[in-house]
Amino acid sequence: CVALKRSSNVNEVFCIPGNAGTNNIAKNINLNLSDFEKIKDFFISNEIDLALIGPEKPLVDGIVEYLENHNIKVFGPNKKASQLEGSKIFTKNLCKKYNIPTAKFGIFKNFQSAIDFLKNSTFPIVIKADGLASGKGVYISENMEEATQAVKEIFDGKFGETEQILIEEFLDGDEMSYFIISDGKSYKKFQTAQDHKRVFEGDMGKNTGGMGAYSPSKLINDNLDDKIIKKIIEPTLKGLKELGVSYEGFLYAGLMIHNDEPYLIEYNVRMGDPECQTILPKLKIDLFDVIKSCIDKNLDSLNLDWSSDKSLCVVLCSKGYPDKFDNEIEISNLENLQISGNNEFIFHAGTKIVDGKIYSNGGRVLNFIKISENFKNSRDSIIKKINDLNWSNGFFRKDIGYKV
Ligand code: AMP
Ligand code: GLY
Repeated sequence: CVALKRSSNVNEVFCIPGNAGTNNIAKNINLNLSDFEKIKDFFISNEIDLALIGPEKPLVDGIVEYLENHNIKVFGPNKKASQLEGSKIFTKNLCKKYNIPTAKFGIFKNFQSAIDFLKNSTFPIVIKADGLASGKGVYISENMEEATQAVKEIFDGKFGETEQILIEEFLDGDEMSYFIISDGKSYKKFQTAQDHKRVFEGDMGKNTGGMGAYSPSKLINDNLDDKIIKKIIEPTLKGLKELGVSYEGFLYAGLMIHNDEPYLIEYNVRMGDPECQTILPKLKIDLFDVIKSCIDKNLDSLNLDWSSDKSLCVVLCSKGYPDKFDNEIEISNLENLQISGNNEFIFHAGTKIVDGKIYSNGGRVLNFIKISENFKNSRDSIIKKINDLNWSNGFFRKDIGYKV
């Protein structure tokens, strides 16, 4: 919203449903993201020119073709293309067919067959629910007891109805988030980042949606970049094309890098969160022009220009996340923080505004971003800001970027 609002070609931004932060930038519209019909009616009655779909659920449910069928211009991948995120098994089968490097895997349709397989496996091992699970449907099990519990929870429906689970080899290495943007005809690289998925410092504890990120990833170099494109990105786009699917939107490859070789862990069909907050402030051209060039299918003639500075983001979370946490805890001190808006930002996630007061409304609440000439300075400055805020229900990782 911040990036779009800066564009001289954008008159007004609406945000569905929005939060306390977007309330200052855009007009928040309280509609349910599953109610495509109401969303379509809202677009038509307000003569809105362009829909930009952020989260994965409506993409996977087919909002792109729904709105396009009503002559609304949309940026985002369609339902078939969104299977890359919506079904891990779809992606794994694509990997198999096109020799895309990824963890070895098996697909299991019931509790007993999964347990029989696990009895002959080595640990740690990775167990995943097939569908969307907000980054939480993944277990890294150290022994048979943990693995049994994981399989049971998934088949018991903890992440929604599941007919199949995936059991895969544990990949050792360093993670990297790798982005491209595509108009269906050509694509452009859209920077790298390293997310920090585990809830505690030193990458301990449960997986989350992401506790912080920095960009660019320390791992990227020309040689590795070339391998990612040739072995992962291009075969994926080719595979989709052979299924009659063109990919339009952001594509995020979650990679594991081991001995300078990339392995695909997963795809997301959107910018990541908190990677989006970390990467977009470095874009030196108008984001709307980028999106427009995709809609017009002339992305190949656009020159993306990026700041060479280091960007870092720390996520302030609700105590207890990713398990149980309290909502609606007031965040009182926010307007007193000095934020430049040039190389410092606070982007809201799970917040809401009621009678002019800001309250938490989710596990990940605020993203603190700083861009500077080095990651350590960025992080120090952010930690100071979070301490100044002094929100009683908050916690955060103080070690984002520790591998650099
Ligand atoms: P996913 O939702 O598939 O991205 O998995 C969430 C997180 O679990 C990843 O970002 C990794 O940190 C971890 N993970 C998933 N699959 C594997 C694997 N095969 N080996 C090691 N770690 C994994
Ligand atoms: N940061 C990981 C994600 O957005 O899925």
